Amino acid sequence: MMKCAAIIPAAGIGTRFGGSMPKQFSEYESIPILIHTLKLFERIPEVNSVIVAITPSWEEYTNEMIVVHGLNKVKKIVAGGKERQDSVSNALNTLLPNEYDVILIHDAVRPFVSPELVRKIIRIADETGAVIPALKPKETIKQIDEKGMVIKTLDRTILCAVQTPQGFKADIILSSYKKAMKNNFYATDDAALVEYSGFPVQVIDGEETNIKITTQFDIHF
Ligand code: C5P
Repeated sequence: MMKCAAIIPAAGIGTRFGGSMPKQFSEYESIPILIHTLKLFERIPEVNSVIVAITPSWEEYTNEMIVVHGLNKVKKIVAGGKERQDSVSNALNTLLPNEYDVILIHDAVRPFVSPELVRKIIRIADETGAVIPALKPKETIKQIDEKGMVIKTLDRTILCAVQTPQGFKADIILSSYKKAMKNNFYATDDAALVEYSGFPVQVIDGEETNIKITTQFDIHF
């Protein structure tokens, strides 16, 4: 039987969101966004364990919510780090080398991903080693300088905007994180570290509804 763990980085401060609390703790239908996300993984049969990275001052509240909502798959809460990558690294560092076959990494602030997409990512990660969901940009994309002047218009047919969950064979993501952290190589998604280690990464279609809640507007939307 394949074993799968999901890592949920939820230790962001959320400066773009405004308000007094990080966006993953703001409520939607009276439930914190993080809990919506955790409930989703709870319902996916292939997921054995969930590991959440949290800012220590939010740990007690998170533990309470986990009990209230009966989230049995949350096995560990680890301290977040300075960057998202540090938070994920802290979670990966708690795993034993052969504990899981597949590791998913999913932003706490993407509660609307469908279970079908998550299951597809697990399946393909197990087959190919690394898979990420992405969408082709609808808008024209331009490269600009720091003054906001256009440098050039990019060819959008070769670009894609990447989402989570990203899925990896455990050995691939563990060795890629180890190498990146050792070399102080930082990136904005997990697949970039796998690319840095030279492994191929498969892209599949993401979902328009799988938004990353970043601003107050997103939550109203
Ligand atoms: O900051 P960003 O929007 O990229 O955050 C994506 C996810 O990573 C969020 O769920 C956020 O809570 C998490 N994060 C984290 N540790 C950080 C920064 C962000 O776990 N230091």
